[in-house]
Amino acid sequence: MSSICVVGIQWGDEGKGKVIDMMSASSDLVVRYSGGNNAGHTVVVGKEKFVLHLLPSGILRPGTKNLIGGGVVVDPWELVKEIEGIRKLGIEVELGKNLFLAWSAHLILPYHRMQDQVMEELRGHGKIGTTGRGIGPAYQDRASRIGLRFSDLADSAVLEKRVDAALSLKNRFLEGLGKAPIDREKLLGDLKEVGRVLLPSGQDVGAMVRTAALEKKEILFEGAQGMMLDVDLGTYPYVTSSSVGPAGIGAAGFPPREVQRVVGVAKAYTTRVGEGPFPTELFEEMGERIRTQGHEFGATTGRPRRCGWFDLVAVRYAVEVAGVDELCLTNLDVLSGISPLKVAVAYEGEGQSFGVYPAGVPGFENLKPHYEELEGWDEDLTSVRSFEELPAAARAYVEFLENGLGVSIPVLSVGPGRNQVIHRGAASNNGSSTKVLGV
Ligand code: GDP
Ligand code: IMO
Ligand code: MG
Repeated sequence: MSSICVVGIQWGDEGKGKVIDMMSASSDLVVRYSGGNNAGHTVVVGKEKFVLHLLPSGILRPGTKNLIGGGVVVDPWELVKEIEGIRKLGIEVELGKNLFLAWSAHLILPYHRMQDQVMEELRGHGKIGTTGRGIGPAYQDRASRIGLRFSDLADSAVLEKRVDAALSLKNRFLEGLGKAPIDREKLLGDLKEVGRVLLPSGQDVGAMVRTAALEKKEILFEGAQGMMLDVDLGTYPYVTSSSVGPAGIGAAGFPPREVQRVVGVAKAYTTRVGEGPFPTELFEEMGERIRTQGHEFGATTGRPRRCGWFDLVAVRYAVEVAGVDELCLTNLDVLSGISPLKVAVAYEGEGQSFGVYPAGVPGFENLKPHYEELEGWDEDLTSVRSFEELPAAARAYVEFLENGLGVSIPVLSVGPGRNQVIHRGAASNNGSSTKVLGV
C-alpha cells in the first residue's frame, strides 16, 4: 500500500499533470483534494493532449478510480462540460464507477464567477490576476457558511432552503454594486438539472479513501496550484484561496499524517501566471526566450506565463513547508542553449542577506535575488533517458539544485510525453530512497 501526495512547489504549472499521469499507472485511486477549475493539468499521451481542470489526472488510466474530494470547489456546469469533452476524446468516464464527487464539495455558482470578476475590477492596480473562475468567492462562502454543497442537490427542499439563505445575502451584495439580483427560479432550475446529471457520482469520498487505505490500495493525492500560491504560506494576497499542500488533504476526509510520501514537482526554472512578487522574474529577451522554448502559456486561461530563473530560496521553503520527501524536476529540456544559467541562492536588501525564505517579512517585495551562475549546455535533451547520457553541465545543474534544496531529485522530465523521463536509478547524493513514480 502507498499513499502519495504530489504537490507543486512553485507558483503552479510545474508539470503535475504529467507526473500524476506517470505515477497513476500503478494507482487504484487518484484524489484531487483542493482548488477548482482554476487548475489546468496537461497530460500528453502519444499525439493526444488532454488538459484537465477538475477531473483527476488518473481519468486517463482504465481501472483507476478518480475522486474529487471535499476540499475542492466544483463548478458543476464546467464539470459536466469537461466530462463531455473528455468522452469525445475516447476516454471512458462513468459516474459512480471511475468518477466520484464528494457530497461535501462546495459548488461554484454563477454569482461566484461574477463576484470574482467584479472584485478584480474593484481592486484596480491591486488586482490578483485570478483565473476568473469564481474560486475565491466560493471558498469565501464556504468559510462564511453560506455555500452550497453537492449534497444539497440531492433534496429539493434542502436545496431551496440553502439557495434562499445564500440569495438573501448575495442579492444585497449585488444591489450594492448596482447589478440585477439573481433569478431564484432560474438558479434552482439550473441546479436541479445539473444535479440530475452529476448525482450518480455522489460519494462519501473520505470514507472511500480511508477504506482503500485499510485495504492497502495505492492512493495518489493530486495537488493543484503550487505551494507559493497557498492561501496561508504563499505570497499573500497574490495567492489562491485554498490549502495547496498535504494539509489540504484533511478536507478530503483523510488524515494528512497517514500520507506516506510527498513528491514535489518543480520546473527547472520558474513561471508564474497572474500578479504578485516574483523575485527571479526575467523581462525582455531572456524571459521571452524561456517562454518561447517552454511554450509557457496558461493551460486554463491561455495567458502568457511570466518566466524567470530557478529560485532556490523559494523552493527550499516550499519543500520544507510541504514536507517534500523527493522531487521531480520537469522541463529540463527547455533550458538547452541558454548559458550561463542563473539560480537564486539568497535574497538581499537593506544590508541583509536571506538564505531562508522571508515568509511574511515586511518589505519582502523590495528584496533582490543573489545569483550563482552555472554553465549551460547546447544539446537537445528530449531523447535522453538516463542521467549518465545527459551533458555534464545538465548533470551539474541538477546536482546543484539537489544540494541546495536538501532533497533528492530522482526523476527528471525532459519533454511533455509520457516516456520523456529520466529515472536516476541508484540512490542520489543525499542518500534518500529513489523509489518514486512507481518504479
Ligand atoms: P500542471 O498545472 O502542473 O499540471 O502543469 P501544466 O500542464 O499547466 O503546464 C506544464 C506544461 O509543461 C504542459 O504544457 C506540459 O505538457 C509541459 N511539460 C510537462 N513536463 C515537461 C517537460 O519535461 N518538458 C517540456 N518541454 N514540457 C513539459
Ligand atoms: P495548476 O493546478 C498557475 C493563480 C492565478 C492567480 C492566483 C489566484 O494548473 O498549477 P484564482 O483563480 O485561484 O483565485 O487565482 O492563482 N493560479 C494558478 N497559477 N497554475 C494554477 O493551477 C493556478 N491556479 C490559480 O493565475 O495568480
Ligand atoms: Mg497548470
